[in-house]
Amino acid sequence: MTDLATALAGQGIVYLDGAYMPAAEARVSPFDRAYLFGDGVYEVVTVLDRKLIDFPAHITRLERSLAALSLRKPIADASLLEMMRRLVRENDLTEGLIYMQISRGVAPRSFDWPEGAAPVLFAFAVNKPCLDTPASRNGVSVMFGEDRRWKRRDIKTINLLPASWAKAEAAEQGADDVWMVERGPDGRDYVTEGSSNNAWIVDADGRVITRALSTDILHGVTRATALAAAKADGITLVERAFTPAEAQAAAEAFVTSASAFVLPVVKIDGKIIGDGAPGPVTKKIRALYLEAARRSAM
Ligand code: PDD
Repeated sequence: MTDLATALAGQGIVYLDGAYMPAAEARVSPFDRAYLFGDGVYEVVTVLDRKLIDFPAHITRLERSLAALSLRKPIADASLLEMMRRLVRENDLTEGLIYMQISRGVAPRSFDWPEGAAPVLFAFAVNKPCLDTPASRNGVSVMFGEDRRWKRRDIKTINLLPASWAKAEAAEQGADDVWMVERGPDGRDYVTEGSSNNAWIVDADGRVITRALSTDILHGVTRATALAAAKADGITLVERAFTPAEAQAAAEAFVTSASAFVLPVVKIDGKIIGDGAPGPVTKKIRALYLEAARRSAM
């Protein structure tokens, strides 16, 4: 087997269009609109102790993404849950994630939405440690980079080239990720979010700051759960955009996403944050998030 075939075989059993099969046997048409136009949406759901984290919120966001692009959901919520649970069982997944995407399906190439194309649902499991990782223990570094994405970042589309490009640039510069920056209407630069996560800082007074929801960022499911859990614990939260300078002057920083949960950021564009180790507020919010997420896991 080639390395790629071996890697795919390691992906275990996947779901494609109503059937379960070994990853290496999954086939889609090159005329699928996902291939020609990047025409599709996706979700990533974390699995802890064989249970799905924040499942209902991921479905709600999936529906928003689908509706925004006039895409039809090809499966009922109950079947989607059953499909993800089966992928957990088939792949003996104790910890990791389920990736799922819905593309508009196969049609002759034409820019307008095709009539009658059947959406294609594809999903696979990734077996990997999420909880106890070097990144979660030691924190990660980020650098600033221009936000090159389109104007509807609230839609979770499979068009991930800007994110992929940003990560490649980060790797070149020896950073783990990019915090994307964009000029605001007031002429000042602000952080939008990480390339695949939401960005947060903690100021010198212990206030926790993250950008408010709009079309400028993805409405993170982890962000929402972490916000609610932190608020309930009495932590002061401010939803507003912050500047790169504020980020570098922060007492603590972290990012949130499915599978990374609440991940400490200890270096921002070359500047060490705090004492260079995960801070107390970050650790507290991580613990609060995990408690809340586990409580509602299904
Ligand atoms: N990324 N912002 C962006 C641009 C993202 O791609 C993601 C998720 C998030 C965090 O959203 P959530 O908390 O719902 O995971 C924010 C996923 C994990 C990915 O692309 O793999």
